[in-house]
Amino acid sequence: MAESMKGLHRTHRCAELSADDVGKTVTVMGWVQKNRNKGGIIFVDLRDRSGILQVIFEGKNISEEGFCKAEKLRSEYVVAVTGVIQPRAGAVNTNIATGDIELIANDIRILSEAETPPFPIEEGSKTKEELRLKYRYLDLRRPDLQRNLIMRSKVATLTRQFLSDEGFLEIETPILNKSTPEGARDYLVPSRVHPGNFYALPQSPQLFKQLLMVSGYDRYFQIAKCFRDEDLRADRQPEFTQIDMEMSFVDIDDVIDVNERLLKKLFKETIDVDVELPIRRMTYKEAMDRFGSDKPDTRFGMELKNVSEVVRNCGFGVFANAVENGGSVRGINVKGQAVMPRKKIDALADFAKTYGAKGLAYLCIMEDKSIKSSFTKFLSEEEIQSLIEAMDGEAGDLLLFAADSDKVVFDVLGSLRVELAKRLGLADNNAYNFLWVTEFPLFEWSEEQNRYVAMHHPFTMPMEEDIELLDTEPGKVRAKAYDIILNGNEIGGGSVRIHQDDVQEKMFEKLGFTKEQAHDRFGFLLNAFKYGVPPHAGLAYGFDRLIMLMAGEDSIRDVIAFPKIKDASCLMSDAPNVVDDIQLEELGIQIKEEK
Ligand code: AMO
Ligand code: AMP
Repeated sequence: MAESMKGLHRTHRCAELSADDVGKTVTVMGWVQKNRNKGGIIFVDLRDRSGILQVIFEGKNISEEGFCKAEKLRSEYVVAVTGVIQPRAGAVNTNIATGDIELIANDIRILSEAETPPFPIEEGSKTKEELRLKYRYLDLRRPDLQRNLIMRSKVATLTRQFLSDEGFLEIETPILNKSTPEGARDYLVPSRVHPGNFYALPQSPQLFKQLLMVSGYDRYFQIAKCFRDEDLRADRQPEFTQIDMEMSFVDIDDVIDVNERLLKKLFKETIDVDVELPIRRMTYKEAMDRFGSDKPDTRFGMELKNVSEVVRNCGFGVFANAVENGGSVRGINVKGQAVMPRKKIDALADFAKTYGAKGLAYLCIMEDKSIKSSFTKFLSEEEIQSLIEAMDGEAGDLLLFAADSDKVVFDVLGSLRVELAKRLGLADNNAYNFLWVTEFPLFEWSEEQNRYVAMHHPFTMPMEEDIELLDTEPGKVRAKAYDIILNGNEIGGGSVRIHQDDVQEKMFEKLGFTKEQAHDRFGFLLNAFKYGVPPHAGLAYGFDRLIMLMAGEDSIRDVIAFPKIKDASCLMSDAPNVVDDIQLEELGIQIKEEK
C-alpha cells in the first residue's frame, strides 16, 4: 500500500548532497533506479531530477519493518528515505556526482509501487523512439531529456531577465484568431456560437505585436506558442515556440544589437560558449552564390563556384544549354575525394535528384593527374584545364557540377555540400558559427499560385533604395529582412515593418490582393495604421531549434516535453481523435464520408 507524505519533508535532492554533508541526517525522495540485495545489506540507487544517490539498508541501522520494505523495492518504486550521509565505504564511483558518499538509511516509506517499465530508464537509451514517445512520461525521466528540459527552462528565464532589463514588456496575444492565411496552412477551430465560422490558431503573433507597437508599448516580447499545419521534419513541429519580440523607433542595427547581446548572454550562461560580437553579416545574394543556401553552414568550406562562362560554348550539351537558357553551371570541389568509388558518386547523384537535379556531372583528378569523368569526353583538353583551374582543382580532388536554372543549381549544390560535410565529418561539432543573412528578396515567385508571395511576410519593408523597383521589377526588390543562422540552421528571422499605409497597400497589390481582399483579411491592421504608427521592427527565434543546438541534439523532439510525430499525431495521447457526434452537432459540423 502506498504511504503518504504525512509529517515528512524532503530536505535535499539526491545529487545536491556531497561530502560536505557527511554526518547530516537528510530525507531524500525519488525513484528506484537499481537495487541489489547482497544478503543482509541492500544497495539502492535512488534517482530524482538532480541525479543519483546510493542508499544502504542494513539491519543494524533500520527497524525490521523498514528493512522488509527495502527488500520489496523494485525499479521505479517511489520512496522517501531518511538517514545519515557517510563517506562511501566501497570504491568511489566517479561516474556520478555523489560517487564519494552514500546514505545510510534508518527509515523508509514506499510512496508508490511501480510496474516494470516497458524500457529501461537510462541515459542514451537504445529503445526505439516510437516506444519512448508512447510512454513519454517515462522517457522524460531519463537524464538526457531532463537535462534538455532544464536547459530550456533556464534559457527561458535568462531571456525574460535580459529582455526585461532592456525595457521589453512581456505581453500575451490571443490564440483564437481570425484566419489570415499567408504562409503555412492554418489550424482551424470551429466556433460553436457562430456556426460555420472558424478561429485560426496563430502561426506567429505577428499582427498583434505590430498592433502593440501602434498602441505605444514600445518594446514587446513573448515566449509564444505558434501553430503551423505544414510537413514535419526534424526541425519542424506543428506547434512550436518562438521567442518573439518587436521594437518601436528602431532600424535593423538596433534589432541586431539587442539580439547579439541576448545570444551572447544565453550561450555564455547556459553552455559556457563565447559568442564573438559583432556576428558576421552576409547578404542573401552572397550566401546563395557562395553556399547555395540562405542558411549557410560556415563551419566548413567547399564553396560553390560559378563556371558558366568557362563552359558556355563547350561541347557538353547539358552544360552549354543550361547557360544558353539563362541558368548556370556551378560546382563544388570535394577535397581529396577523387578516390570515391563510382557507387558512392552515383548515390550522390541520386541524392541530388531528390533536390530536382537532372544529373550530377563529376570529374575526379587522380593522384597521377589522369582524369575520370562523366563528361570530359565532350570537352577539349583546354576546356578541361580551364574548368579545373576555375574550381581550384588539384590532384586528389573530386569536382561535382550541376547545370540547371539558378534555383535548382543552388538547391542541389547547397544540399549536397551539407550532406557531404555530414558524410565526411567536415564540420566541427564544437564550433558555433553565427551568421546574419540580410537583404532577402522581398518577393518569391510561386509557380503553384502563379503570383508573387512575400518571402518573409507581407508586412516587411522594402529597402529604401529599391522601392522604385516595386512597380517595374518586383522580383529585384530587396527587403529589410534578416535571419539569424547557427551552423546552417535558421534559428530566427525578422524584419523592419512597413509603417506607411501607401507602401503597405502597394505591397498587397503586388501580392495580387484587391483592395477589398486586403481589407477583408488585414483591415484591422490597415485601419490601425491610420492612427499614428511608429517605425518598428522585430524578430522571432525558433526557441525549440535554439535549444536543440545548445543541447547538441539532432531533433527538436528531444527538447520538447510532449512532441508530435511526422504525421502530426501524439503517440502518447492519440491526438487527434474522433469526437462525439454531440460535439459535432453543437458545432454544426458534418463529417464527409470517406470514399
Ligand atoms: P518565421 O516564420 O521565420 O518568422 O519564424 C521564426 C522562427 O521560428 C522557427 N520556426 C519553427 N520552429 C519549429 N517548427 C516550425 N514549424 C517552425 N516554423 C518556424 C524558425 C524561424 O526562424 N513573425 C515572424 C517573425 C518576425 O518577423 O518578427 C515569423 O514568424 O526558427
Ligand atoms: P549523360 O550524357 O546524360 O549520361 O550525362 C553525362 C553526365 O552528366 C552524367 O554524370 C549525368 O549525371 C550528368 N548530368 C546530366 N544532366 C545534368 C545536369 N543538369 N547537371 C549536371 N550534370 C548532369
